[in-house]
Amino acid sequence: MTDRKATLSVGDKSIELPVYSGTVGPDVIDVRGLVQEGVFTYDPGFVSTAACESAITYIDGAKGVLLHRGYPIDQLAEQSDFLEVCYLLLNGELPSEDENKRFHDTIKNHTMLHDQMRNFFNGFRRDAHPMAIMCGVVGALSAFYHDQMDVTDPKQREVTAHRLIAKMPTIAAWCYKYSVGQPFMYPRNDLSYAENFLHMMFGTPCEEYKPNPVLANAMDKIFILHADHEQNASTSTVRLAGSTGANPYACIASGIAALWGPAHGGANEAVLDMLAEIGDESNIETFIAKAKDKDDPFRLMGFGHRVYKNFDPRAKVMAQTAHEVLSELGLENDPLLKIAQRLEKIALEDEYFVKRQLYPNVDFYSGIILKAIGIPTSMFTVIFAMSRTIGWFSHWNEMVSGNYRIGRPRQLYTGSPKRDYPKK
Ligand code: CMC
Repeated sequence: MTDRKATLSVGDKSIELPVYSGTVGPDVIDVRGLVQEGVFTYDPGFVSTAACESAITYIDGAKGVLLHRGYPIDQLAEQSDFLEVCYLLLNGELPSEDENKRFHDTIKNHTMLHDQMRNFFNGFRRDAHPMAIMCGVVGALSAFYHDQMDVTDPKQREVTAHRLIAKMPTIAAWCYKYSVGQPFMYPRNDLSYAENFLHMMFGTPCEEYKPNPVLANAMDKIFILHADHEQNASTSTVRLAGSTGANPYACIASGIAALWGPAHGGANEAVLDMLAEIGDESNIETFIAKAKDKDDPFRLMGFGHRVYKNFDPRAKVMAQTAHEVLSELGLENDPLLKIAQRLEKIALEDEYFVKRQLYPNVDFYSGIILKAIGIPTSMFTVIFAMSRTIGWFSHWNEMVSGNYRIGRPRQLYTGSPKRDYPKK
């Protein structure tokens, strides 16, 4: 924080506003006092607005930097595992060896769902989108822990975090099992977090499932790379819902709903739908032309980012992991994946994309990996949601442990001024 000031002139009025500096990143102008001056700031899409103070994640979009609690994402993806990253996001520091082991053990103690939760799954149509099921089931968790949701109690918040981290893979896998009509698989606590998820997705009671270490490692990387991303649309949704004092399960359900859209977490699913629509390498040029055409709503899914105007550092790690998975599974010649590789090359060289700095984003590659592993496209956003839960929770936790006010944006009103209801 500094004592520097910015001066804003509105008509003949000059207003002084405090300026603050973070540890790194752009300074912010504190506009909270403007309401007393009778003006608001106007920033649809929050392009230039810092909505909160946070010490969790830092992004420099121009340089392609992503730090969690100061640690670069590529180092975490290479050297850490998802549960350790969860601990880091939640607590602010890396765990000691002992703390890490205890954290892993604690999470394993919470992996099962209350048996009555099965009834929620059974209430859905078999063809329901798994995001619809996940949104409902996570919201319903609040009905199971209603006596342990005091948001002012740090201990209750901690147990809630453990429950959410542990139960999300079980919920995600059960969404899938329900849709294909297979029995729900109980978690296996002898497996790692990623292996257990693959077991619950692809195992059956008929035979023992042996997770492939290359695929489990790729899953763990996908979890790490999606764990948090600063004040994105779903995280901001969670914060806004939480600012009312709503319980954490309801807040996470609101994040899942916000993530579902194709401009956000739905993009990895949209990438695969797009590749299927393109269908053949000979059609790529037509689709590139559509993406560039202002009169055509088609966009190249998996390209571009609001914040990254350079290569998304997560996409770099994902591209490498995609390569490992495809070669492990002998899928280098899969037709859809071939289209993806051609598309990536063209977009990286085409002037339209280069000029607008539209690089492939994390969803472009994660979609390819998930498809290769055999996960249906409708599950892609579900996996994003289960990975992002720790980010959502950490932001919610940071907010409710400090001073916060209910989030209540204002507006530029362009409707009718006051008018009288016609006399009858
Ligand atoms: N294909 C074609 N043109 C694009 C694309 C694209 N994917 N993305 C942006 N543009 C163009 C856009 O038309 C505009 O052109 P012009 O300046 O000539 O009007 C320019 O690039 C800037 O785009 P914008 O819409 O102002 O950018 P934004 O920051 O509002 O949107 C975005 C960011 C991610 C929503 C957008 O790039 C997009 O729709 N991408 C495809 C969907 C996608 O992959 N989403 C996943 C985002 S990463 C995961 C996450 O964080 O959730």
